This record gives sequence, structure tokens and C-alpha cells, in this order.
Amino acid sequence: MADRLFEEAVKAAGNAYCPYSGFHVGAALLTADGRIYTGCNVENASFSMTVCAERIAIFKAVSDGVKEFSAIAVAGSSDGNFSRSCTPCGACLQVMSEFCGSNFKIILADGEYLLSDFLPVSFGKENIK
Ligand code: THU
Repeated sequence: MADRLFEEAVKAAGNAYCPYSGFHVGAALLTADGRIYTGCNVENASFSMTVCAERIAIFKAVSDGVKEFSAIAVAGSSDGNFSRSCTPCGACLQVMSEFCGSNFKIILADGEYLLSDFLPVSFGKENIK
């Protein structure tokens, strides 16, 4: 499944809207019941409005009422070669932590990680009580 998910992420990167960075990113999110939601980065002339591929995939799923996930694959490249890992940014890790447990898998070009590898501790619901 990891390979299939990574392939879907590479495919999704084909839709990246990235005229400013030229860096194409695709994400493929596996739901707990086996469906795949994809996303790509969408940039904006007002640079800070840019949204990463991972958050697009997660928000697409959540807006469909799906909130249980088991893995996400991320592929990024500026030249069509997706063999170098594209590590999710801090904002995307925070969004993952909202919906995914520490065993959530993050599949990159160089292998498989856990959300807890990149974000061992995060701000969450329990902090707001
Ligand atoms: N980007 C992503 O979509 N996901 C990541 O994990 C890292 C960065 C995008 C944001 C921006 O459009 C471009 O890559 C360069 O930062």
C-alpha cells in the first residue's frame, strides 16, 4: 500500500499550482476504511495564502465527513524527480495531529515514518480545557 499511496501522491503533484516556487507537491491520504484523498499545493500571489498539499488532502476528506486516517504519502519535486523526500511542514504536522494519532504513518520517498517521529508533542484539544 505504501508504494501505491506514494504513486498517487506523485500523480497529484501534477495538479500543483506553484507558479512562484516551481516546487510541485502531491499528497495521498489513506482513510481508515481504505479510501484515498489526494491534494496538491495551491500557491497565491499573496504568498502566505499558499496551502500545502497535505492540508488540502486532509481538508477535502474532513469536508466530506471523513475524519479517520491511517497514512499519508507526500511527494515533492521541482524537476520531475520525486526521489528526494519532502518532509511535511510544521503547520501540516499540526493539522495531522488534530485528526491522527501518533501511529499515523507518513510515507516519504526515502521510507516510512510515524507522525510522532516528526511531532512528538503537540498542542491539542486537551490544552484548551
Ligand atoms: N509545500 C507543500 O505543499 N507541502 C510540504 O510538505 C512542503 C511545502 C509547498 C508549499 C509551497 O507551495 C511550496 O511547497 C514551496 O514551499
